[in-house]
Amino acid sequence: MSLQPLSFHVNDPNFYAGDPYPMYKRLREEAPVYWDAKEEIWCITKLSDVQSISRDPTRFRSAHGVLINDRYRKVPKRESILSTDPPYHRQARKLVHAAFTRRRIASLEERVQELVVECLDGIEAGKPVDFAEQVSIPLPILVIAELMGIPREDRTRFQRWSDAVMIAAETQDSGNMQVVSELITYLNGTLEERTKNPGDDLVSTVLATRVNNKSLSHVELIVFCMTLLVAGNETTRTLMSNGLIALADHPEQMAKLVADPSLVDYAVEEMLRYDPPIQSFTRTASEQVTISGTTIEPEQRVVLLYGAANRDTEAFGDNAEHFVVDRTPGRHVTFGYGEHYCIGAMLAKLEMKVLLQELLRRFTHVKRGGTVERTPATLVRGVKTLPLVFS
Ligand code: HEM
Repeated sequence: MSLQPLSFHVNDPNFYAGDPYPMYKRLREEAPVYWDAKEEIWCITKLSDVQSISRDPTRFRSAHGVLINDRYRKVPKRESILSTDPPYHRQARKLVHAAFTRRRIASLEERVQELVVECLDGIEAGKPVDFAEQVSIPLPILVIAELMGIPREDRTRFQRWSDAVMIAAETQDSGNMQVVSELITYLNGTLEERTKNPGDDLVSTVLATRVNNKSLSHVELIVFCMTLLVAGNETTRTLMSNGLIALADHPEQMAKLVADPSLVDYAVEEMLRYDPPIQSFTRTASEQVTISGTTIEPEQRVVLLYGAANRDTEAFGDNAEHFVVDRTPGRHVTFGYGEHYCIGAMLAKLEMKVLLQELLRRFTHVKRGGTVERTPATLVRGVKTLPLVFS
């Protein structure tokens, strides 16, 4: 146990851009339910507590917002599926879940493979490459565009709009709101066109889905398309970058994968566990609840620190702090847990798996080729530049 008094501020973007893991360890060991007085929020770091709160949407609500900074704004009703509670959430989730079937995601594999090859063809052995710019940033956007059936000629505009939606989720200035409204106009056109000429894409499927004779309204559909862009983009991008950093920093683990590429599924799970893209989501208590001996009062907020929970030794053993590509997968919470469990988890895993397989076909070594620059943010532990050298 450290002799330094425990002082942690959950709303410090620079904390996540640095190395948050030593502090997560202290929190788990010294105060697994920690009160951040400045932010007025309980910080939850043990895996079992994160799980029990996530599967209890009656006592821990999402409708008041799920981001640390939602405290500072009025969260519009049903802003996205993420900030809704049952019973509405169950209904909305069934509708969109119907579009994310195992079969649909598996059928994308070939196309994802082609897109991965396109991105990797620009990488030369021995030459430094910014992996974020070359692969992690474009790939997830291209895959979502594919999933939504966006025509090739619109992809460049679509990419610009996606970036604006992500920025608008944090700051709403007139410049990016203008771009967001262009996207809404475009999506309106897409919905109109797919209503007349349905295809095999995700938008057509959601349009046609009925649960208890109900479908999503036009506005809900637009919100859903925008949620896909926000939820599926920067997250998958960061999984790719964080996963590659872990490999570059653990050459002995890369060697294991080169020797036995059938370990890729395990390696993807370990990358997800070891350094999760989304660091936290929040909930608001609706009544008094006791978590690990601490009483949480009604209306108080809790923040579920996924990166901390994923290294809980009670769940992952004494080597929980280590990156081990052939670890027997445990139940990490990188995609959340219970009620709001990530709808795109299968897709993100597929993209990472195909990327890793293709990298292993081409290269046997990867190392850092310069300084990795992270983006200071509280939600995603993102990577701005990732210089790597493959050989
Ligand atoms: C590595 C990539 C990803 C990570 C780490 C991630 C993480 C998460 C987490 C932690 C949640 C739970 C939210 C909560 O409990 O409040 C979530 C929900 C969600 N994710 Fe993902 N996600 C990823 C990729 C994707 C992709 C590719 C898509 C879609 C294309 C997607 C769509 C969604 C949606 C729609 C929800 C809301 C589910 C609900 O509220 O019921 N995600 N994601």
